[in-house]
Amino acid sequence: MNDDNGIFLRNCWYVAAWDHELLHGAKLARTILEKPVVLFRGESGRYIALDNRCCHRGAPLSMGRVEGDCIRCMYHGMKYDASGVCVQIPGQSRIPESLRVTSYPVQERGHLVWIWLGDPARADPALIVDYPPLHDPAWRGVPAYLHYDANWLLIVDNLSDFAHLAFVHTNTLGGSEEYAYTTKPTAIERLENGFRVERWHRDSLPPPYHRKVIPPGEYETNVDRRNIATMLVPGIFLMETMFAPAGSGAENGNLQGVRQYRNSQYMTPETRRTTHFFWNYLHNVDIDNPDIAISLRDSLIEGFMEDKAIIESQQVLLDNDPGFKLRALEADVALTHFRVTLRKRIREENEAGSVTHFAGQAV
Ligand code: FES
Ligand SMILES: [Fe+2]
Repeated sequence: MNDDNGIFLRNCWYVAAWDHELLHGAKLARTILEKPVVLFRGESGRYIALDNRCCHRGAPLSMGRVEGDCIRCMYHGMKYDASGVCVQIPGQSRIPESLRVTSYPVQERGHLVWIWLGDPARADPALIVDYPPLHDPAWRGVPAYLHYDANWLLIVDNLSDFAHLAFVHTNTLGGSEEYAYTTKPTAIERLENGFRVERWHRDSLPPPYHRKVIPPGEYETNVDRRNIATMLVPGIFLMETMFAPAGSGAENGNLQGVRQYRNSQYMTPETRRTTHFFWNYLHNVDIDNPDIAISLRDSLIEGFMEDKAIIESQQVLLDNDPGFKLRALEADVALTHFRVTLRKRIREENEAGSVTHFAGQAV
């Protein structure tokens, strides 16, 4: 049993890192669901994730040395294999079986390194949410990371609600406050594992981040903008964005003059009040020009810093008054459904007695 009061869903895959973070023998120390983890690639190329605490005196294995597919603690030299079993103790020939650290299932998919912190017997790689644009050569983006001093669900809330684009991102990703008044989701689909939302914003100027990467001739042409977003448990956000010349009939399949983006974002709880945030915003036009992906990445960082400022301030206020009750507006249908879905999954996990217990609050 864990001591997290059932705040986290454990039997699912979480993004632990981008694959480039583990290049050149890097040993990445990262706390995930309040567990210290070390991630590295063995010399065979295999991805390995272990408890980042040597079982001897608790030194971090991330300060250790990779030897083959093993890692040696560089305090007193104990060596662990990829399954976490101690295979060598310098100066001691008998190795008690109890001398081991936890090993976590880990998989690479779409340049993301995924980890499973729940019951290892249930870690089916087929459950990983693969996002094809991340490994499709037709799409190009820059993988990126941000750290948030906030609970991951506050970020999920933020991404579930497009209305905030108008006010938080007026001059970056949104374009105008009018967006909040004149657009509504045209379809909200409740999924067993999250939701899917489609939203159109017709006949408006392209938002600043898009204007920066389109030819000058397209600047002043109004566009019909469509976002289709999917949010999946435990905090996976996938979005297709389309800009079409206003009135061109893109909704009926006319894709002439259309520009598209693909975007995936992953919220992995570091602790109950801090979050690892991974994302990539991809384009498919002129992909030999690296400036486009870099401009999009920079625009998104600018936008996310606007989110981060408000969300981290929100977290401070919520921490100061745990009794404060969040309220829902009509626009919050999707995020409310997501929270209910996640709470149900956590409750089921705890009732099954598989990993944690549920204390009834948290999500
Ligand atoms: S703390 Fe790791 S070998 Fe002693
Ligand atoms: Fe935002």
